[in-house]
Amino acid sequence: MSVMVTGARIVLFGKSGFVGSNILKELGADVFAPSELDVDLTNPDTLQGVINAGDVVINAAGYASATDRTPKGLELFQRVNLDGLRNLADACVNAGAAQLIHISSVAAMGMWDGEDITESMMRPVKSPYAASKLEGERLLAQYSDKLSITILRPTSVFGEGRGMAASLCSLVAKGKVPLPGGGEAKIPFTFIGNITHAVRLTVGNERCFGKTFIIGDLISYPLKDVVSALAQGMGISIKIVPIPVRAAYCAALLCEAAARLRKSSPLLDRGRLHTMTESVCYDIDAFVEATGYSPPYDLQASAARIAQWYLSHNPSQKD
Ligand SMILES: NC(=O)c1ccc[n+]([C@@H]2O[C@H](COP(=O)([O-])OP(=O)(O)OC[C@H]3O[C@@H](n4cnc5c(N)ncnc54)[C@H](OP(=O)(O)O)[C@@H]3O)[C@@H](O)[C@H]2O)c1
Repeated sequence: MSVMVTGARIVLFGKSGFVGSNILKELGADVFAPSELDVDLTNPDTLQGVINAGDVVINAAGYASATDRTPKGLELFQRVNLDGLRNLADACVNAGAAQLIHISSVAAMGMWDGEDITESMMRPVKSPYAASKLEGERLLAQYSDKLSITILRPTSVFGEGRGMAASLCSLVAKGKVPLPGGGEAKIPFTFIGNITHAVRLTVGNERCFGKTFIIGDLISYPLKDVVSALAQGMGISIKIVPIPVRAAYCAALLCEAAARLRKSSPLLDRGRLHTMTESVCYDIDAFVEATGYSPPYDLQASAARIAQWYLSHNPSQKD
């Protein structure tokens, strides 16, 4: 039995972003990706005539600054992640789109630790970003009788060009890597190539209609293993310097206070620290069952790609 909607045009929003540009790379010529200069989700007029009947629409557009708590940030969470999403869902319904695939985040589920965390496990969200991802999902639930929607919740996405990956590589390049708790906590690291593969498997897949899935790797990895794999990829031997979690917590509080004064986003906050110090492993069985998903990149292959990207942009680190 075929479960795919075949021959549909794919329309991608957010093509210039980290996730969107990689989806574009994965799906390539099959995709129509309007420029953000022409389509502003916050202005419904710019969506007129962009979506056709039967299209599969992928929404990788959003305001994704996870630590932003500034007034400007709060406004963007509302305007882009909620008002913009509503405009997009309305445009999909009006045009008769076949499917809307929305990139949400595990952040919508609140902060978890432990194993086998599944889609239905929800905790109160603690950041404006997480709140906007949760509210976005709730908003889409109102369209469930009018539109086939698939919500994908990626775990922690790493990849070439990503700020977090670049920061870890630059620490590795110094030879000494300070890690809270010695990097023992298992983090739900997943490579962007695994996420874009997951999106590909979702396109037109009727088994994904009306569903919400966590997407990521089958296991989580100790942060120190991620760092060691990056060091191996960069050809550098490193020493991991354990930082007591309590000291890192104080540093996060200071960063948050400084950011509040500067009206900017902190480099480290308690949410990010939680991600680095509490082991969590999400259960992706539901997605595997619906699509046959098997992540194409393991930790070594992912780290090698990120390391290669970092070295090509920082040639002085090669020796
Ligand atoms: N990166 C991750 O680790 C991660 C993990 C889980 C979920 N996600 C989700 O994935 C989505 C994309 O994240 P990202 O990391 O790729 O973010 P990103 O690099 O900041 O890209 C965001 C994209 O959205 C576009 N955009 C912003 N406002 C828009 C508007 N009003 N109208 C049309 N396009 C607009 C941006 O265009 P401009 O560049 O022109 O502004 C850009 O193409 C977000 O919803 C995020 O919550 C990301």
